[in-house]
Amino acid sequence: MSSVDQIRVRDVQGDALRRLLAHCLGQSRLWCLHNPDYALTPPQAEHFYALKSRLDMGEPISKILGKRSFWKDDFLTTHDVLDPRPDSETLITAVLNHYPDRGAPYRLLDLGTGSGCLLLSLMGEYPNAQGIGVDCCAGALKVAQRNGERLGRFPLWVQGNWGDSLAGTFDIILSNPPYIPTKVCETLDVGVRVFDPMMALDGGADGLQAYQALMPHIKRLLAPTGMAFLEIGNTQAEAVGNIAQKKDLKIHGIEKDLENRDRCVIISL
Ligand SMILES: C[S@@+](CC[C@H](N)C(=O)[O-])C[C@H]1O[C@@H](n2cnc3c(N)ncnc32)[C@H](O)[C@@H]1O
Repeated sequence: MSSVDQIRVRDVQGDALRRLLAHCLGQSRLWCLHNPDYALTPPQAEHFYALKSRLDMGEPISKILGKRSFWKDDFLTTHDVLDPRPDSETLITAVLNHYPDRGAPYRLLDLGTGSGCLLLSLMGEYPNAQGIGVDCCAGALKVAQRNGERLGRFPLWVQGNWGDSLAGTFDIILSNPPYIPTKVCETLDVGVRVFDPMMALDGGADGLQAYQALMPHIKRLLAPTGMAFLEIGNTQAEAVGNIAQKKDLKIHGIEKDLENRDRCVIISL
């Protein structure tokens, strides 16, 4: 397939390229299956080849298409936010298991909200909940706000350093902080290293810097019967547990992801 060929739908093979094609045509992938002989117009072909060259350079398809599925919804994603990851759905299932009353007016706080995927997914599950999403990055908060508007969910978005500007208490605190050791960040696949923001990945020399910073906020902002759900790297459960215990917090449990790796530490007062 080269830019000089006339290109028909049936010439495009492979899942990622077919998604790009459907996007360029403004059609569903089902439509593409039913129209194998459709020949792209020159502008459509030009658009398709432009996107394909981004894919060839290692850009993740979610960044090219500008959206990624998480839990039950599609979320807009840009270079300002971490692409929502399936591993982070572990936090959603953990919260739902511990808080089965879907009608309760829980107060939710998401520290490092990024695209807003965690907070907005939970607000979909608890329609009477109120939420605050905090991020230090203004660009990320814009994406989170647009995601909230698209989904008809309206938490308060706050720009700041973790819980610095917040008062009061919350029933459920969520955080998926940056937790990759700096040296490991340098070795990540180009799709992550170049196209996800370093601010969302780099957890300092030992990967634990954000947890050190977060624990005092959790101690201050958690309601007496509340719980905090923190995403962790799969080898960090013990270290994160120790940081929590040093701040006089209790480890309520550890949840595993779908690949049976430690993924979420649950903390209570
Ligand atoms: C790993 S991403 C998580 C994004 C989203 N919650 C998710 O699960 O996909 C971490 C987020 O924390 C934010 N962040 C990093 N340091 C922060 C700080 N000191 N205060 C607030 N947010 C911070 C980053 O901008 C990034 O959006």
